Amino acid sequence: MQNIPFDRSLIDGILEKNKVKSVGSSTIREVKKIIDDVEAATNEKFIRMEMGIPGLPATQIGLDAQIQSLKDGVAAIYPDIYGTKELKYETKRFLKNFINLDVPEDSCVPTVGSMQGGFASFLTISRMNPKKQKVLFIDPGFPVQRMQCRILGIETEHFDVYDYRGDKLRDKLESYLSKGDFGSLIYSSPNNPAWFCFKEEELQIIAEVANKYDVIVIEDLAYFGMDFRQDYSTPGVAPFQPSASHWAKKYILLISGSKAFSYAGERIAVMIISPDLFNYESDMLEKYFGQRTFGRAIVFSSLYALTSGTAHSAQYALTAIFKACNDGTFNFRNDLLDYKKKAEIMKKDFTDNGFKIVYDKDLDVDIADGFYFTFSYPGMTGIEMLDELVYYGISAISLNITGSKRTEGARACVSLVSHDQLPDLPKRLKAFHKDHPIK
Ligand SMILES: Cc1ncc(COP(=O)(O)O)c(C=O)c1O
Repeated sequence: MQNIPFDRSLIDGILEKNKVKSVGSSTIREVKKIIDDVEAATNEKFIRMEMGIPGLPATQIGLDAQIQSLKDGVAAIYPDIYGTKELKYETKRFLKNFINLDVPEDSCVPTVGSMQGGFASFLTISRMNPKKQKVLFIDPGFPVQRMQCRILGIETEHFDVYDYRGDKLRDKLESYLSKGDFGSLIYSSPNNPAWFCFKEEELQIIAEVANKYDVIVIEDLAYFGMDFRQDYSTPGVAPFQPSASHWAKKYILLISGSKAFSYAGERIAVMIISPDLFNYESDMLEKYFGQRTFGRAIVFSSLYALTSGTAHSAQYALTAIFKACNDGTFNFRNDLLDYKKKAEIMKKDFTDNGFKIVYDKDLDVDIADGFYFTFSYPGMTGIEMLDELVYYGISAISLNITGSKRTEGARACVSLVSHDQLPDLPKRLKAFHKDHPIK
């Protein structure tokens, strides 16, 4: 490592060229572009923590099955919008094996990433009942889902759950849902960006309050099984991935292939619609979608209108991965443990150099080591800290864009930091700490 901190005028010139005043207040894609430019100009590799891209190779079982399906000719054929029979079957088995949840195959539908599952859910739910269109975000959360609602013209409300964990969650949810105008609520667990994981009791509270006010629970399981404090990876054996679906009447689960199976590039996920919701009927659904039931409306109208289904070969990939998990011939957790190892090392590097972990607890226990962590530096806002860290070859994103109240914080994603870069991190943080003494 040389030249840290970088020459300020060089970095400032790049920011100016990119028409960016502050790295800390930029979007993820803007940060990526700026850092690409700085890396090219300085010939130095950044510690890149801004993007949530899997840092592992795609699951081989998926690749093999996908390639075979392409050789067998599926590229020429429109996929069944409902999902292939085999994927529906293996998804049903996967849910039983890893969540201990029984659902019919009809409930399991592939989507073009969870991103599409979320978009189709917001779109369809917002047309069910004109009096219950709002979405409640249990934040912090994934900024794109917020954007999806904005694009669709759907009103949202948000709260940062940090101060409302455990029993306090019930009253907080009541205060929103009792107004009667919410159609759905959404959260991720493990959480992007804070990496907390709701406990069973909290998921039960979410489900109970949602049931009371007839609100649909959208549970985003983008990081399925990735609370590494537990081992959720043995089929049919407890502990299971915690889920509100055990108590909620109307729910949608979004299970992504992107992170747990490192399959982000092929844009594949499954959406699980509870039978109560799938069979729900309304005149409004008929009016907008030409279908009376929710399940048929979201599949045969929303997904049809959006992409006409999910790429055929990617469905074969996910089927093979789920089958191998179900049969116990592939343990999805083993490879992912690399994220845990890196998080442990990186978090210590930060805290050894004056930084704090922002979301540091899951109720009474320390937050897990995993894909993301959050950090802050005394005396600085998140934006100020990120604006400064860029001169030290470190990039991340501000918590501001995630609906977090913790404006002092930033989100770090460990996935793109390679093992051979790890020795550079403490050196850069030490230089930052030295140049920014804590008062
Ligand atoms: C919480 C959350 N939901 C959904 C997604 C998107 O998943 P997919 O790649 O399946 O669209 C992400 C990706 O970062 C995420 O963090």
